[in-house]
Amino acid sequence: MEKILHTTNGVEFTLSHAFLEFSYLLAAVLFIWGLKLLSHPETARKGNFWAAAGMVLAMITTLFLHEDGNGDRIRLMNVVIIIVTIVFGSIIGLVISKKVKMTAMPELVSFFNATGGAASALVGLLEFGNPANESLLVTLLGLIIGSVAFSGSMIAYGKLSGKIGSLHAGILKYVNFVLMFTVVGITAYILLLPDPQSIPMLVYILFGIALLYGITFVMPIGGADMPVVISLLNSLTGIAAAMAGFIYHNLAMILGGILVGAAGSILTVLMTKAMNRSLMNVIIGGFGGGSGAVSEEGGTVKEVSLSDAAVLLAYSQKIVVVPGYGLAVAQAQHVTHEFEKVLEAKGVQVKFGIHPVAGRMPGHMNVLLAEADVSYDKLVEMEEINKEMNSTDVVIVIGANDVVNPAANETPGSPIYGMPVINAVEAKNVIVMKRGMGKGYAGIENPLFFKDNTRMLFGNAKDSLQKLVNEINTL
Ligand code: TAP
Repeated sequence: MEKILHTTNGVEFTLSHAFLEFSYLLAAVLFIWGLKLLSHPETARKGNFWAAAGMVLAMITTLFLHEDGNGDRIRLMNVVIIIVTIVFGSIIGLVISKKVKMTAMPELVSFFNATGGAASALVGLLEFGNPANESLLVTLLGLIIGSVAFSGSMIAYGKLSGKIGSLHAGILKYVNFVLMFTVVGITAYILLLPDPQSIPMLVYILFGIALLYGITFVMPIGGADMPVVISLLNSLTGIAAAMAGFIYHNLAMILGGILVGAAGSILTVLMTKAMNRSLMNVIIGGFGGGSGAVSEEGGTVKEVSLSDAAVLLAYSQKIVVVPGYGLAVAQAQHVTHEFEKVLEAKGVQVKFGIHPVAGRMPGHMNVLLAEADVSYDKLVEMEEINKEMNSTDVVIVIGANDVVNPAANETPGSPIYGMPVINAVEAKNVIVMKRGMGKGYAGIENPLFFKDNTRMLFGNAKDSLQKLVNEINTL
């Protein structure tokens, strides 16, 4: 029998209980420290490591020190099953993350987010019928939010990997409303029942409708609004995990969930600001789907030869590189850094204009350029770089499209109208590097390509940049 340190409200606190709580506190400190380090690309890897260390600590102490209401520890057989499952899951995770291409990273993140939502939903399903469960409302909320996060993230995964297209909002808007009210109605009904656990069928129906809602909610959202939805789903998964933590009275789970939920919510607000949308607009409107594209009257594009481009760049004073999703596809980050170095050797000032939703995941360009050792002080945020556009000799757009599309400023009715963009069009010269006249994620024409001061350098970004570097070196 362990020594009882003190008793509060009839609950006895032992040394191992104190140790368990202390380990949760330490885990929470590690999560917060990890988050802090994650906020800068230079320290992000360490942040990941420390947050993971906090999670490992919380898992180990829970497995061996957690006690249920009767003071019983987790049974050895269950500990073995849990450890085997963790090892199995970790191996799968390791193999997937080793194999995944950098360009498939965004959809992988969505997939992992989906699994988090699924885990919380399953906790809700399992614990609903548990007579010891004290909070039915929290259980149901965890189940609903986790299910929406799961199915919504799976749809986001499908969309980001190009396996699923966008559906037009149309009637789905109303279907969403109906589903939402049905979920609220069933939840209220279950809570008002004198013995809710006697009708488990209801909770399965709720689970099914919440899953369906996740699908119909994300399906019509497309184009420029995807980043907002992705961060929203992220925060939902965190909230669902916190609910699961409440069910088990597990402080580490509650804190971890709240931190993910809060971080996701902050990111959602930042994303809505960056896209100049209100959250309600995104959720209800299903804006930005490819089907709403407006086509430009077109015009002719002018091409630039490699040698002309090299001369223009080498004799400029100031150049701004605007990277986009195509840079990630081409894996051109290292040669981009080389390009920057040869230009600087010629006395050209080079900066990078970073749009908050360039690429396919928050911070995508920062991660890529950090991988290639581009100095962080060269990365300038959209608002700041836009102030310098007039004094820029050449903006070189590397595989970006939507984030430099002037239709966002000029064309009311365009699906991206109102979204802040990098105003490349205001620079003295623009060189656009892409393979052809392919559209960007929003699926719309880009009038920038037809402007007088724009010239196109067609080809795979990595190859073109390598050739440009070689040309500049000969000058
Ligand atoms: P996009 O608008 O998607 O344009 C990328 C361009 O890269 C394409 O037009 C493509 O044209 C070109 N490209 C593709 N592969 C290439 C290669 N190997 N070499 C050279 N060019 C290549 O990219 P963006 O400007 O970065 O905008 C991001 C878009 O994604 C926004 O609409 C944003 O809302 C959306 N989105 C962002 C996120 C986050 S969180 N960042 C998440 C989901 C969606 P060609 O085919 O002609 O080469």
